[in-house]
Amino acid sequence: MARYLIGMTGASGAAYGVDLVKRCPGEKYLVLSDWARQVMHSETGLKPSDLEPFVKRVFADSDLAAPFASGSNRYDALVIVPCSVSTLAKIAVGIADTLITRAAQVALKERMRMVLCVRETPLSSIALENALKLSREGVVIMPISPPWYHDPKSLTELLSGFTNKVLALLGEESGPGWREAELE
Ligand SMILES: Cc1cc2nc3c(=O)[nH]c(=O)nc-3n(C[C@H](O)[C@H](O)[C@H](O)COP(=O)(O)O)c2cc1C
Repeated sequence: MARYLIGMTGASGAAYGVDLVKRCPGEKYLVLSDWARQVMHSETGLKPSDLEPFVKRVFADSDLAAPFASGSNRYDALVIVPCSVSTLAKIAVGIADTLITRAAQVALKERMRMVLCVRETPLSSIALENALKLSREGVVIMPISPPWYHDPKSLTELLSGFTNKVLALLGEESGPGWREAELE
């Protein structure tokens, strides 16, 4: 079974993080930054405890002694969704003052998979340079940009179109691809 560490930060779009937490299979651990907690509550009405049933454990972002602060506890991927440009910047310059940013530094040094679902628009040159720097390190920069080609009929379907793309990247079961039936 795959093991995933999911980080949620204080960018808008908490619902994307919630959808991944609910739908991603495997052994999941969750960390929410302080601002993720506030934004998630204002955008979805949810509290971190509402997500506990979907994960093995929730860690505090202030807990720099948590298992994933060390490279000795490996996982298949760290996915930060939504990822603020502040967290993007910290990761790009090597700041590790929270569990999410420390785990990201560990993922970089240990060459573990990392996916950053950045949410900001427009993007400054600074954010673009940070994203490029990390992309060159092998990090997947995955702006929250939901596809429309699956003809979503509801917000839930719109959300799940993006989550499906994250799941596909992780190698997990996701929705059908574009005109996939024609491959048969
Ligand atoms: C309602 C709300 C929406 C926000 N949306 C975004 C956003 O879309 N992108 C972003 O980078 N920051 C956004 N922010 C700002 C971040 O929350 C802020 O920069 C914070 O310091 C990020 O810290 P964190 O990355 O540790 O969660 C938003 C803040 C609030 C209160």
